[in-house]
Amino acid sequence: MSVKWSQVDEVLSGSLEGKEVHLRGWVHRWREGGKIIFVVLRDSTGTLQCAVKKGNLPDDQFEEAKKASLIESSVEIHGTAKKDPRAPGGWELGANGFRAIHVGEVFPITENQSTELLLDYRHLWLRSQQLTKVMKVKAHLLKGFRNYLDERGFWETTPSVITQIAGEGGSTLFPFKYFDQTAYLSQTAQMYLEVLMFSLEKVFSITPSFRAEKSRTTRHLAEYSHLEAEAAWFGQEDNLKLQEELVAAGIHHAAKHAGPLLKDLGRDPAELLAIQTPFERLDYGEAIEKLQDMGEKISWGEDMGAPQERLLTEKRKAPLFITNFPKEIKAFYMKVNPDKPDTVQCADLLAPEGYGEVIGGSVREESNESLIERLRKEGANLKNYEWYLDLRRFGSVPHAGFGLGVERILMWICKLEHIRDATPFPRVMNRASP
Ligand code: 4AD
Ligand code: MG
Repeated sequence: MSVKWSQVDEVLSGSLEGKEVHLRGWVHRWREGGKIIFVVLRDSTGTLQCAVKKGNLPDDQFEEAKKASLIESSVEIHGTAKKDPRAPGGWELGANGFRAIHVGEVFPITENQSTELLLDYRHLWLRSQQLTKVMKVKAHLLKGFRNYLDERGFWETTPSVITQIAGEGGSTLFPFKYFDQTAYLSQTAQMYLEVLMFSLEKVFSITPSFRAEKSRTTRHLAEYSHLEAEAAWFGQEDNLKLQEELVAAGIHHAAKHAGPLLKDLGRDPAELLAIQTPFERLDYGEAIEKLQDMGEKISWGEDMGAPQERLLTEKRKAPLFITNFPKEIKAFYMKVNPDKPDTVQCADLLAPEGYGEVIGGSVREESNESLIERLRKEGANLKNYEWYLDLRRFGSVPHAGFGLGVERILMWICKLEHIRDATPFPRVMNRASP
C-alpha cells in the first residue's frame, strides 16, 4: 500500500481535520496512563500530541507504542486529526495504527544539562527545538541574501578555501600540510573574488572562513560562514549602499518567512521589518570623540573592541556604519583616502543592541606600489602575492567589496547569547568535534 505521508504542521494548520493522517518522526515525549499512551511526535515541522488508545488499534501495535517509550525512537503513527483544546497546539491525532521504526537507546540528554555536555552531544542536541528554529531562520536569511544579490545582478561563485596568502594578517591563520607545501585555510575569499570580478564584474560567495582566534569570546568562531561580495567600478558610497540593502533584504526576508520562529526565539519580527535604509554613518574620528565623551579611554588610532562597539550601539534599533578607520589598524588592501591619507575608505557595520561588527568592507587599493609597501610592513612573503599583484598590472579598475559574518547577523536577529548556537557544528578553541 502506498501511503501519503503528512507533516505535523499540516495537522496543526487544521487542513487535515477529520481526515486519515499518516505521520512519521521521532518520539519527543512519551507518557502512559493506563490504557492510553500519549506520544508527542516530532518531525521537522513541529510537535503533535498523539493519543494511542488500546482497542483503537491492533494489540500488537499498541505493544509497539509501549516499547517506543524511549525518547527519540523513530516511529510511524496513523490516525485521525481532531481539534482538542487541551492538546498543545490545539490538535491531537487519535491513533489507529502505530509502528516503531527504531527503538532507541536511553537518550543521553535530559533536562538542565551543562553547556559542555550539550556541546559534547551536539550531534544529538541539534534535534532540540531551539537549534532547529535557529537553523531554519538561518536558511531563510541566506535565501534572502541570495535573492537580493541575484536581483542586483551578482554572480555566485565558488572560490577555494585553500590558500597561501593571508588576507587578514598572519596571526589567525590555520596552516596545514598540503602535499609537500604549507597552505592555509582561508580567512577570506576576497582576493579570489577580486580575481573573478575581472570577468564577472559583480560577484559574491558564501564560504567557510577560518580564524585561529585564541580569544574566547561570545562572538568568535574558528570557522564561520562568510558572505563576501566584490564589485567592479564600485566606490565607498556604492559599497555602503549595497551592504545596507543586502542586510535589510536578508533580515526582512527572514522576518516575513520565519516570523513565528523568530518570535519563539525572543525576537519580534516587527522590529526587523521596521529597519529601513539608509543606515546611519559615523566617521571613525567622530566615533572616538563620542566614546571619549562617554568616558572611554580610547584615542584616535586605536581599534575598537567589543565593549566600545557595544557602547555605540546598545541603545540603537538599526545598524550603524563606522567609516574611514585609520590606515594603521586596517588591512593592507584598503584604499587610502586621498584627502586624509592616514585613513582608509572602509567601513564596519555594527549591529544594533550591542551585538557588534557584522560586516567589514572597503574600497580596494589599486596601486601595487602601495600594496607592496604595506605587505612588506606586515612581513608577508611577496612571492605568494604575485598573482594578486598581477590583477593591478592588467586592466586594473576601481572596485570595492565586503565580508559579512552570517552567524553574527543570525546571533543578532535571533537574540542568541553565544555565536556557537548560530552554527550547527561550532568550532571554537577547545573543540573540533563532533
Ligand atoms: O572584518 P573581516 O576580517 O573582513 C574580511 O575578512 C574582509 N577580507 C572581507 C571582505 O572584504 N571580503 O571579516 C568580515 C566579517 C566580520 O565583520 C564579522 O562579521 C565576520 O566576518 N567575522 C567573524 N565571524 C565569526 N567569527 C569570527 N572569528 C569572525 N571574524 C570575522
Ligand atoms: Mg573586521
